[in-house]
Amino acid sequence: MELANSWLFHTLHAMCFFILLFIILFSLFPLLFYTLRLKLWCNCEICDAYLTLSWTKRFDNLCDWYAHLLKNSPSKTIHIHVLGNTITANPENVEYMLKTRFDNYPKGKPFSVILGDFLGRGIFNVDGDLWRFQKKMASLELDRSSIRSYCFEIVQYEIRQRLVPLLLSVSGKEDGVLDLQDVFRRFSFDSICRFSFGLDPRCLEISQPLSDFAVAFDLASKLSAERAMTVCPLVWKIKRKLNLGSEKKMKEAIKTINGLAEAVIRLRRKMGISSQRDLLSRFMTSVDDDTFLRDIVISFMLAGRDTVASALTSLFFLLANHPEVGSAILDEADRVLGPHPDPTSFQQIRELHYLQAAVYESMRLYPPIQFDSKFCQEDDVLPDGTFVKKGTRVTYHSYAMGRMEEIWGPDCLEFKPERWLRNGVFLAETPFRYPVFQGGFRVCLGKEMAVVELKSVALSLLRRFHFQLVTPYNAPRFSPGLTATFRGGLPVLVREKENQ
Ligand code: HEM
Repeated sequence: MELANSWLFHTLHAMCFFILLFIILFSLFPLLFYTLRLKLWCNCEICDAYLTLSWTKRFDNLCDWYAHLLKNSPSKTIHIHVLGNTITANPENVEYMLKTRFDNYPKGKPFSVILGDFLGRGIFNVDGDLWRFQKKMASLELDRSSIRSYCFEIVQYEIRQRLVPLLLSVSGKEDGVLDLQDVFRRFSFDSICRFSFGLDPRCLEISQPLSDFAVAFDLASKLSAERAMTVCPLVWKIKRKLNLGSEKKMKEAIKTINGLAEAVIRLRRKMGISSQRDLLSRFMTSVDDDTFLRDIVISFMLAGRDTVASALTSLFFLLANHPEVGSAILDEADRVLGPHPDPTSFQQIRELHYLQAAVYESMRLYPPIQFDSKFCQEDDVLPDGTFVKKGTRVTYHSYAMGRMEEIWGPDCLEFKPERWLRNGVFLAETPFRYPVFQGGFRVCLGKEMAVVELKSVALSLLRRFHFQLVTPYNAPRFSPGLTATFRGGLPVLVREKENQ
């Protein structure tokens, strides 16, 4: 009996060992294979610098290195063979992929698989008919003047009731250092939640702990971005299958988000949707499927949250380094708004042309989405003569395009809002030369809302406070991720203006 037990024990032990070994090999083999394949596949100068990280000796950020390579490329297109990625900063190519041959450059499966668990079938994550249906429905809703005034009211409320009191509470204190990037992330989460869901997570009330929803949403966004950055996608897929580590956390975060979304949808149905002004209630008039409703709204939240926070962070970074632009914004505000500290309507915000120019100029130099990729469906040739093989990832690089002399002239590296004005009136550039909100058929649907948010915050804060960088510097370092984020945040000293 003892012998049998010991035999059984050893057999089970050995089986466990082999199963574990199999799992480890199964996880590591693709990674090893992938790395070896990459190394053997290409030893061109660019791929070599990419793989050995030698570019880091001269550049702080990957986007700066890409901008340098694209600037020096005669066609303004480069290839990172090891990533199967063709990157372009050529406006003709951008127009071609976003408009002329739009159908040949969908987002593609690799992207939708990465974000699929979080975004489901939401607009941000689908192509074809599913995308067309949501685009039509969303465009109809976002075009209404009622949604514009709803958005304006939310933003003004957040600024007056939360953002300004928060800054006042630290202003003038010796240890009154505030990370503006963190503050803007909280502001944009509160705003987009109320706009999309009619929910108030109160993230700007720093004394309160962050709501479960905010924590779960943050985690799911962060882990989705990490999926996109892993060398070998098989690793996260295996972790997901086995429900391990970050993938286990992802599953739990999505469960929390779904639970809350379901509760809100149920409540809306009970209360009646006609009295509500948020996007979810508007979409509920044409969609019955609750999971689909949840997906649609979560896409909007992802699209409209970090982007706005990122744009505000770089705008305030540039304004801290260019006080003359801040003064010109205030002169214009005095002329247009008079003594009122805040604009009173959506229309009044639109009349601030110099402010609009400053916002666009800041995103030219620091686009919140630095690059955006599509996947080529059929072999093709771009307008600059570049051959693109089926399945290739093709990326347009907004960050590099904002630094192209051919597009912006010899002063392209300077922060000069005036370049956007003709006789004092803001004049937009074509989206294919300035694809910060993308362009063509999949142009950003929240562009107008975003610009109102950015202008409102900039105006209200500049009229009330002085900001000083805790450590002055000229160029930010970015953290890896889907949206541009300043590494170390944007710590500033806040001081209330005397005439307040
Ligand atoms: C400064 C702020 C913003 C910037 C720079 C920005 C930029 C972009 C870009 C580059 C895309 C294309 C992404 C892709 O297809 O991969 C996009 C799409 C989108 N954006 Fe924005 N966005 C901003 C704010 C917002 C806001 C506030 C909302 C929501 C109210 C929003 C809603 C959307 C939606 C729904 C899409 C998907 C459109 C489609 O696929 O047809 N965005 N945005």
